[in-house]
Amino acid sequence: MDQAQLYVSSNALQKRDALIVLKEYLPEMAWAEEGESIIDVGCGSGDVTRNLLMPLLPRVEEVVGVDISNDMVNFASKHFQHNSLSFRAMDIGKAIQPRMVFPDGFTKVFSFYCLHWIHDQETCLNNMYQLLQPGGEALLVFLAKNPLFTMYEKMSEKTEWSEYMKDVSNFVPVYQYKSDPAQIMADLAQDVGFEILSCEAPMFEFVFENINYLRNAIKAVNPFLKRIPQDRQDAFLMECLEELAKLKTKCEDGKSVARYNLMIAHLVKPN
Ligand SMILES: C[S@@+](CC[C@H](N)C(=O)[O-])C[C@H]1O[C@@H](n2cnc3c(N)ncnc32)[C@H](O)[C@@H]1O
Repeated sequence: MDQAQLYVSSNALQKRDALIVLKEYLPEMAWAEEGESIIDVGCGSGDVTRNLLMPLLPRVEEVVGVDISNDMVNFASKHFQHNSLSFRAMDIGKAIQPRMVFPDGFTKVFSFYCLHWIHDQETCLNNMYQLLQPGGEALLVFLAKNPLFTMYEKMSEKTEWSEYMKDVSNFVPVYQYKSDPAQIMADLAQDVGFEILSCEAPMFEFVFENINYLRNAIKAVNPFLKRIPQDRQDAFLMECLEELAKLKTKCEDGKSVARYNLMIAHLVKPN
């Protein structure tokens, strides 16, 4: 199974959270009579864009999903492309002058479960600011803190796996060990030029009904797995699960619970 296919069948947690946030925040956003142009940054396999975001929008002219991964973009194009929905590759974490790619810009920027991958948050927010037309809004949803990343760090200390995880710090979100991630994010967005409508990082919980669901979920997003020889990947994943269990994620009934802080930032580019 390739990564996009695995992701699209193992992203129940991400889909649950996107739905919760969209239902709460879409009614809060200003919607133009004449339609909107929308970008979903870090769209991944494209199912959240097509099956969750688009049906909940009041009215739409154009939606574009962008992702750093060509594999994800190809998968999304193949399975979820539509009259008013297209996908293309873009790295939102690099200084890219995004208006060269999208000269008209967008009225809304959405991003779900992507920005925790990006260390240069300022460049990323700056790109989003440039992508927006004046008065345009951004709704950014991503992991601020998650025991998953502590598990990566623990795994990287093991002699068996350390050679594959030397750059582990690149995969730990910049907010993971901050006491007030939402305030840091809000300050940064304000420095970039955004007005902050709200920015918070509440605790979420998600229950995995059995160990296989959890195993597939962590497999689908694990950036180190593809570096590990095929015949050792199962052992690696088993140890990942054991390390996660030590971080109080295991319930007595065989279920596992993920507890994490989700950053939810609703920003506007002033007129
Ligand atoms: C966990 S997936 C989320 C996909 C989808 N938004 C969802 O909610 O299911 C994160 C996606 O962010 C993408 N990504 C990571 N860094 C990125 C960057 N710098 N620019 C654009 N996309 C990026 C990854 O390739 C991946 O497809």
